[in-house]
This record gives sequence, C-alpha cells and structure tokens, in this order.
Amino acid sequence: MKILLTGGAGFIGSHLVRRLLARPEYQVINLDALRYSGNLANLESVQQHPRYRFIQGDICDQPLVESVIRAHQIDGVINCAAETHVDRSILDPGSFARTDVVGTGVLLEAARRAGIRRFLQVSTDEVYGSVETGTSSETDRLAPRSPYSASKAGGELLALSYWTTYQFPVVVTRGSNTYGSHQYPEKFIPLFVTNAIDAQLVPLYGDGRQCRDWLAVEDHCAGIEHAFLHGVPGTVYNLGGGNERENLAVAEMILDLLGQPKSLLRFVSDRPGHDRRYAVDCSRLRELGWKPVVSFADGLRETVRWYREHESWWRPIKSGEFKRYYEEQYRRRLEEGTACGS
Ligand code: TYD
Repeated sequence: MKILLTGGAGFIGSHLVRRLLARPEYQVINLDALRYSGNLANLESVQQHPRYRFIQGDICDQPLVESVIRAHQIDGVINCAAETHVDRSILDPGSFARTDVVGTGVLLEAARRAGIRRFLQVSTDEVYGSVETGTSSETDRLAPRSPYSASKAGGELLALSYWTTYQFPVVVTRGSNTYGSHQYPEKFIPLFVTNAIDAQLVPLYGDGRQCRDWLAVEDHCAGIEHAFLHGVPGTVYNLGGGNERENLAVAEMILDLLGQPKSLLRFVSDRPGHDRRYAVDCSRLRELGWKPVVSFADGLRETVRWYREHESWWRPIKSGEFKRYYEEQYRRRLEEGTACGS
C-alpha cells in the first residue's frame, strides 16, 4: 500500500514513518514543508530506505499535492501535517487556520478527486475543550478554546463532511497529549527535560494543577495505524494513554529522574484560556483491538534517557529560532515567577 504521509518529519509523523516502514506492506511518501519543527534528522535511520521517499512541500500547495498523489499512485493518505503548539497559536493564529484548516481541505480535495481509498485525519482531544470531570467520548459536542484546537476542529469537521457529502472514506483520530523521543522542545515534557538537564528553571503555568492524559508516541502511532486499517469510514476514534497526571506531578517526576532539585520549579503567569483538563474515553478503538501498552513511568524514564543521550539532536534546536521564541515567551514570566513552596 502506498501511503502519502504528510508532516512525516515532525514528532508523531517521523515515528509513524519508521513504524510503517518496519512492515513490508507499506511504501511511504513523506510530504513535509520542513517548517520550524520539521526535522530530517528525525528520519536519518530511514533516509535510504527503498520503500521511502521524501518530498519537501506544503499541504496548502494544491498543484504539488495533486501531482504527488498522481505521480506516486497513492492508495491512502495520513495527514499528520499541522501547526500544533497552543502557545504559538496565541501568537500567530493565522498560520494555524492556514495549515490545519486550509491545508487539510487541499489534501482532502486532491485525495477525493484521485479516488484515494482511505484518508486518516490526525486530530486532537483538545477539540472537546476543557473537561472538568469525566471523560470525553466521540459523540460529545466540540468546544475548542484556543486558535490551535479550533483550527484542528475545523480540519476534522471538513474531513468528516467529505464522508457525509461524497462518501469519501475518512477516519479521524483524536489523540491525547503525546510524549516521547524527537519531540520539539517547545512542548511541556521535552522543554522541562532539556531545561532540567541544564539545571535551568522549569516554567509551570498557573498553579500547575492542570491535568493531561499522557500517551506514549509509540501507542499513539499504533492507534493511528489501527484506525487507518480497521476504522469505520466517517468515524472518529479517541486515543488516550490512561495516564492522567497534573503538570506539577509530571514536572516533579522529571526532576527526580534527572536528580535535580525542586527549587528549579517556577510558577509563572498562566497561558490565556488555558484548558484545565482533558480526558478521553477510548473504548471505541479498544473494541476494535487497540490498546496503549506503555506505562507512564516507563515511557517517561525512556524519554528522559533519550534526551540525555541525544544532546546533539536538541542543542542545535534550542540555540536557533527557538531561542528567540523562548525569550519572548518565558523570560519575563520567569523573572516574575514564584518558586515552589514560596
Ligand atoms: P503542552 O505541551 O503545550 O500541550 P497542550 O497545551 O497542548 O496540552 O502543555 C501541556 C501542559 O503543560 C499544559 O497544561 C500547559 C502546561 N505547560 C506549562 O505549564 N509550562 C510550559 O512551559 C508549557 C509549554 C506547558
């Protein structure tokens, strides 16, 4: 099966490229714009793989997307290409609407016209908005609250409309917070791990009591593949790790794993519109045979170990464009932040 995987140089995308290539039945065409978080170093191990092709390009580029689908006789599309970071969506919402909504629309239309047999849209549990109690199931109403989650909701609704309108076989996954190796260090876990390795302060937003359900990237990719192969067209599948933790608790685990003191914790001014909690009910995909297998303790330990052993991967990132972003996002907040217990 020839898969067009978009965003394959990103975090989840690159794990998925490697996962699919490990099975003889897949050929993978990776279309990635290589924006700030796309990184070919994530794919060094498969660069020369006979069943792999990389094409640099934007999913908003309609002629390019059409020609890639045609030239490679694509059978299925998995759309991992997205702007993904909530804090960046607050600084620059337009780029999120462009890639996550318009880009998804371009891809859907090109895929439909080419008669593609399967299209999986990677979405997020953030489309449910903040869930104070209980768990979100796929039939719940959507209430996205950030430009990021609103854009992802727009993209997946467009995808689902293709099933309703054209019977184009779309499946949507809504994954929870994902962690693992190769994640760009703007996100909570890799930011805290890499800061802590350098004995730098770690910035907890607000009171640090927000809850996320942590899903290992390997489990997330297994869920995407499972939904791609076995999902019912026009259906949404939640993917969660069953590891609900408060941010403060995760930060403390990271400091403990690295032998760093709690004095590195800083409570800083909160993210605007910060969702308090996400939690998903994954029984729908579980009934089709998927389940997460990585415990949070093991997954976090392995992730910390990976960042410790791969400084050559993240140090260049943290000294480049990221540095300006970090200054703008955190310097003042950290100066004004409060230490743990004070
Ligand atoms: P993040 O990794 O940005 O994922 P999302 O916002 O999509 O859930 O953040 C995870 C949680 O960690 C979220 O509650 C925000 C919080 N957070 C901090 O407290 N400090 C930080 O510097 C970052 C990036 C996130």
